[in-house]
Amino acid sequence: MSLLSTDGLVKEFGGLRAVDELSMSVDDGEIVGVMGPNGAGKSTFFNCVSGVIKPDSGTVTLDGADVTGDSPESLAHQGLVRTFQDTRELETMTVRDNVRLAAPDQPGERTIPALLRSDAMQEHEEGVRERADELIEAFELDHLADEYSSTLSGGQRKLLELARALMLDPDILMLDEPFAGVNPTLTGEIAERIADLNDRGMTVVIIEHEIETLSELVDRLIVLQQGSLLVEGDPDAVLSDERVIEAYLGGDAE
Ligand SMILES: Nc1ncnc2c1ncn2[C@@H]1O[C@H](COP(=O)(O)OP(=O)(O)O)[C@@H](O)[C@H]1O
Ligand SMILES: [Mg+2]
Repeated sequence: MSLLSTDGLVKEFGGLRAVDELSMSVDDGEIVGVMGPNGAGKSTFFNCVSGVIKPDSGTVTLDGADVTGDSPESLAHQGLVRTFQDTRELETMTVRDNVRLAAPDQPGERTIPALLRSDAMQEHEEGVRERADELIEAFELDHLADEYSSTLSGGQRKLLELARALMLDPDILMLDEPFAGVNPTLTGEIAERIADLNDRGMTVVIIEHEIETLSELVDRLIVLQQGSLLVEGDPDAVLSDERVIEAYLGGDAE
């Protein structure tokens, strides 16, 4: 059954159609790659699906419900979480605090003084701390937990971003260029983590330029060009498709 789908999604900026009647779907448990030349509309597509911007028309369906225009917070609550191409951690905060703060708030958490908090709230906070520490360890960031995240390398930031997304316990994780600016060793490591999450049942949609790593990782590839779906299917078939080769070698190539 399809977990996520879009139907006729459109987003225009001025006269430019960044996403042009895009219909696609992702099955529960699938891992799907989204590729396409720079400016093809990949990030805008993610933004529309994850509630960061509202599409001009078309619909987004998550687990059978119309979620078009829902906020990112509401979507995260419904199980859809995305990461950004430019990582969004707070540089003046430690790695540990960055991961902890990604957890959804309990009502009143920010405003009620610690001494007046209920047992349930304190338990929730304890759970958040434990979960954050588990993720930090799993991502081998423990030796950096108390460092400001401004000291991290590009690859370590991507790991932190992934750990932050996982604090929200998603059913479907959407990753925008998780390997961009990451060295080959760390790229392999991040790819392994993603494969692992998928093996454990998480549905993953991943935008990436590093086509070799991407095609090894995913069940299916979707290629966008000028906001529309150009080709989709099995990675080997897609990568040898004339239209895809043309799109990458043509005027739009990076
Ligand atoms: N906020 C915006 N305002 C105006 N134009 C935008 C905006 N975001 C994206 N675009 C344009 O939409 C097109 C698709 O961009 P984007 O979705 O970032 O592509 P990709 O992620 O595939 O490289 C590009 O031409 C880009 O310049
Ligand atoms: Mg992009």
